[in-house]
Amino acid sequence: MKSEWWRGAIIYQIYPRSFCDSNADGTGDLVGIIQKLDYVSQLGVDAIWISPFFKSPMRDFGYDVGDYRMVDPIFGTNSDFNSLILAAHDRGLKVIIDMVMGHTSDQHLWFQESRQNLMNAKADWYVWAEPKADGTPPNNWLSIFGGSAWQWEARRKQYYLHHYLRSQPNLNWHNQEVVDAMFGEVRFWLDAGVDGFRLDAITTLTHDPELRDNPPWNPNPSYTKLLPGADNPFYWQQLVYTRDQARTLELLRELRALINQYDDRYLIGEVADVEMISVSAKYTRTGEHLHSCYNFELMQRPFTVASLSEVIAKTEAVLLGGWTTWAMSNHDNQRVVTRAERISELRGNRRALAKLLLAALLSFRGGACVYQGEELGLAEAEVAFEDLQDPFGIEFWPEFKGRDGCRTPMPWSSGLPYGGFSVAKPWLPIPLEHLALAVEDQEKDPSSVLVMFKSFVSWRRQHAALITGDLALVQANESILAFERRGEEERILCLFNLSNQEARQSLPGSWRPLDGHGFAPARIDQDAVFLPPFGVWFAVPA
Ligand code: BGC
Repeated sequence: MKSEWWRGAIIYQIYPRSFCDSNADGTGDLVGIIQKLDYVSQLGVDAIWISPFFKSPMRDFGYDVGDYRMVDPIFGTNSDFNSLILAAHDRGLKVIIDMVMGHTSDQHLWFQESRQNLMNAKADWYVWAEPKADGTPPNNWLSIFGGSAWQWEARRKQYYLHHYLRSQPNLNWHNQEVVDAMFGEVRFWLDAGVDGFRLDAITTLTHDPELRDNPPWNPNPSYTKLLPGADNPFYWQQLVYTRDQARTLELLRELRALINQYDDRYLIGEVADVEMISVSAKYTRTGEHLHSCYNFELMQRPFTVASLSEVIAKTEAVLLGGWTTWAMSNHDNQRVVTRAERISELRGNRRALAKLLLAALLSFRGGACVYQGEELGLAEAEVAFEDLQDPFGIEFWPEFKGRDGCRTPMPWSSGLPYGGFSVAKPWLPIPLEHLALAVEDQEKDPSSVLVMFKSFVSWRRQHAALITGDLALVQANESILAFERRGEEERILCLFNLSNQEARQSLPGSWRPLDGHGFAPARIDQDAVFLPPFGVWFAVPA
């Protein structure tokens, strides 16, 4: 039976190191997740996506996989994972795991063998290349984490490719043995009962076999200013030979055929560093590749009405039969309220801002990913240099402080040591401001972000137009983001006041406000509605 549960679904992202620590070692784990599943299911979300928990030397905190079939002891055991799946399914939650297919850890046995010499059985499993005559790397490709994307291996007297850390060598997907081996790992987790995969950095899966130089950007695109490590020369290249190669699309088709042998499984690809909406369209529109793509547009754009309207318009024009999933925060980007406050009109009431952003995220056409702590309105944590863990931040500090500020542990209770996350000192500190926003405290406060989030999610469930309806932008006052969602039974006008001032919107025709979503009602006067600062308004034709 294939349902389309993922259309308009809300996926809650769990970063397992920082969710809940059940065994007092300062790092979250799978049993910790199980302990908090009631909390997650009461949010009303459809699925959880768990960032990698596989055996790993943790240079990139799990995105460097050493063994795809084994849970890392820091997170527990494979049997804990089986219990987690059962417990999630009991609560009606789908379980999506993170499949990192483009690269492995350098500790993976495949790479350990491959790096030895030119003749071993896995000699061609990674992307190896000769140096140039002067000993320098084969071409100009750069790693997003800094420096050349090539690392010298003295044993083979060759370079290997890594788009991320040099301890994350890229697999050679032009080799059929690699395809078969990785699809075997995918099958292993399908058999274990996972409902789907978030495909990490899917556009990096394959590379140009001719290893051509990437051309420069001219001029350097201004949107990079919002990217992590914006001053990273990585962004000075057009990634034409290192991202979204034709072979990737073929492989995604094969992967889809594989998961179609199982009932109702789901594929969502992480799409970044490319034209995200058009690549999402290409990967999803025929129904033969991915179900959805997870795009970074809302993590890289300023939160102005003009910029958000632009991305919505582009999505409507380009996505067509495809599907995308929106996110405003994740484990790689500065938390959304902090980022949004770069715009002066969005400063002054962080709680109201957090609510507004969540309501907008859940009203766009597409799926939505909510990152742990976003439902609490957490801001980016300031992490001191000596506490930094993320190699990306250590490399580019202080211009870019890395990703630790969005990875600090969940605050569960302000009254318990370490916010109830652990009884031991956590791997990253929990900022004081986060303790004041702890789950237990917010649950008791009817005006909290958390209470609003839950009511909004349950209200949204009753309005199919907000889940699967079409979307049409509406011309509005300059501080109001406005669109209509149109379902088979309902047309809903959605207005979001992206400013800290009251905003007036004249109404095209006559509308009846909807309530029950958790936001204060707006004042209506004749043919205009007055939205309070950071206010929202949902209405149906009267
Ligand atoms: C993940 C990052 C990771 C990178 C390399 C991503 O896009 O989200 O956390 O560092 O892939 O695996």
